[in-house]
Amino acid sequence: MNLIELLRQRFAVSLATIDSDTAPLLAMIRPSQDAKFGDYQANFAMPLKAKLGKAPQQIAADVIAATKLDDLCEPATVAGPGFINLKFRDSWLEERLNLAVSDPQLGIAPTAQPRTYIVDFSSPNVAKPMHVGHIRSTVIGDSLCKILRALGHHVVSDNHLGDWGTQFGMIIYGIKHFADTQAYKSSPVKELGRLYKLVHKLVDYRESLAAIPTTQEKLAAREAELATASNQPPSADKAVAKKAAQALAKLQLQVKEQREALAALQSKIAAMDADPLLSKLVQAHPTIDADVLAETAKLHAGDSENRQIWHEVLPFCREEIQRIYKRLSVTFDEELGESFYHDRLEKVVDDLAAKGLARESQGATAVFLEGFDAPMLVRKRDGAFLYATTDLATIQYRQERWKPDAIWYVVDHRQSEHFDKLFIAAKAWGYTNTDLTHVKFGTVLGDDGKPFKTRSGDTVGLDGLLDEAISRALAIVQSSSSDLSPEEQQQVAERVGIGALKYADLSQNRTSDYTFSYDKMLQMNGNTATYMQYSYARVRSIFSRGNIDIAALRTSGALIALTEPAERALGLSLLRFEEALAEAVATAMPHHLTTYLFDLAKSYSTFFENCKVLKADDEATKNSRLLLCDLTARTIKHGLSLLGIDVVERM
Ligand code: ARG
Repeated sequence: MNLIELLRQRFAVSLATIDSDTAPLLAMIRPSQDAKFGDYQANFAMPLKAKLGKAPQQIAADVIAATKLDDLCEPATVAGPGFINLKFRDSWLEERLNLAVSDPQLGIAPTAQPRTYIVDFSSPNVAKPMHVGHIRSTVIGDSLCKILRALGHHVVSDNHLGDWGTQFGMIIYGIKHFADTQAYKSSPVKELGRLYKLVHKLVDYRESLAAIPTTQEKLAAREAELATASNQPPSADKAVAKKAAQALAKLQLQVKEQREALAALQSKIAAMDADPLLSKLVQAHPTIDADVLAETAKLHAGDSENRQIWHEVLPFCREEIQRIYKRLSVTFDEELGESFYHDRLEKVVDDLAAKGLARESQGATAVFLEGFDAPMLVRKRDGAFLYATTDLATIQYRQERWKPDAIWYVVDHRQSEHFDKLFIAAKAWGYTNTDLTHVKFGTVLGDDGKPFKTRSGDTVGLDGLLDEAISRALAIVQSSSSDLSPEEQQQVAERVGIGALKYADLSQNRTSDYTFSYDKMLQMNGNTATYMQYSYARVRSIFSRGNIDIAALRTSGALIALTEPAERALGLSLLRFEEALAEAVATAMPHHLTTYLFDLAKSYSTFFENCKVLKADDEATKNSRLLLCDLTARTIKHGLSLLGIDVVERM
């Protein structure tokens, strides 16, 4: 039951006689900030004043009179300048709660208009180690899939693996030149990781070396501009002088930046030159950057040796990431990597050209889009296709196979420009019936406010991250639940540690950067998984303490009755679950669900402080309160499961 939606449906009927576009008016029905203004508030009477030429209070009264509400609400009241205050009848809330008690779905009705969503998430470039950024896409994407499904939508989750890019050129080059056959045989994943890192380093050396003269040129140009600007006599005109000073400051900054960039390049080169082993390799592979690209191109062109290496290596790379998914309990319906679309790319470019959307530009083929400085390249001068070409082919394939209503791309915000261009190009290409959304997220930061790194300076590997969360959780569990066996403690610690990591990410507004902190995510108090898991265990402990067979009570005919204000507040909170899920879907933001769960846990705490449960005055009250406890526990459990988080019975 989506309470806000129900109210909006009722008002939609009466408002339709006033305005043809009711949506903005209905959006003005919101939960009340304060219980003294009822459960919900409708604020649409004020903006209707001009149109209807009546006092908003009168408009509010007229709309109330024309709206069927009496079966749901107490008589609506008009307050202040024309606010409508709405309060559900206790009897109606009780009826809904009692239905939810016997419903495995807790009263969540499948949507009347199921849509087909494709959620493209996680999508790491395999052959490279997965890092902390990938956890955001994986955790957010997985949760969105679960929430969509809980509301009755069709979902195809697709891991759009990067399994066809330059990183394979590096691996192939590495295998051909540096492989340690013995190491590769005994632990292929480790050896592949070593090869990738080594080749990447050597390529980086060449690219950095090549970047030095261009950076020097840029620096010289900026310095010359700065010298000219500094020699200008100051203008008497204040505004002109101010502009000149600003331009000067900007140039100074640019010079500083170029100097820093140059210094960074030079020190990188110097460090590698100082390493005798590395410098020997550097000397022996002077064209490695171009050679890696050539290996990638040969792979794409169907070279049999490179294809064979790719076929041999790919399963190891997939296995490696599967291990992480297993630890996170994340699965996908599809894992169609970039390679899957390779055969379509040529036709995509031809079709874009035939439709006049793509054209030749300096030997390459590009789609020119209004409002962007650079066009979207779909084929390079050397014939290679690009990331964007694959994404266009993927849209085409998904359309053919699933006819989705929406495709959600859960990807780092740094790819915004790519998706902006992609979506415009796809629309122009004819895919106008699918909502394409970049579900973007911010960067994971360390305590220092910089992108999260380990002490050694490497970006944190996901395994290490999970291990650390679990070992910290274990320390907490060992002190809080010393009566559990070591195996049980370990099991609880896994759920608490992984849960903490996921929840910390999901409880953020995904568009902002977020600061990674083990201490914060594992806090027992506050908006954390640990607190939610603890709340769940605490509610459930009542049943064992009171020796209650809660499943039997559900079907015993016992009923929920809302007498105390804290009971009513908890009951209302329980019934708002679906509204929270709908909000999470409308915005593609799982934090609406974590916020809801946290509020629910707080309502429960107030209820528990104010209402005796096992020692209630009479049996009927006790049973009613036990059922409220039961619904609370089930809602927390279900809610956490939609975030990909397990509960624990004891902690
Ligand atoms: N493999 C890409 C990366 O790691 C992300 C792919 C996202 N999905 C997509 N359809 N472009 O940056």
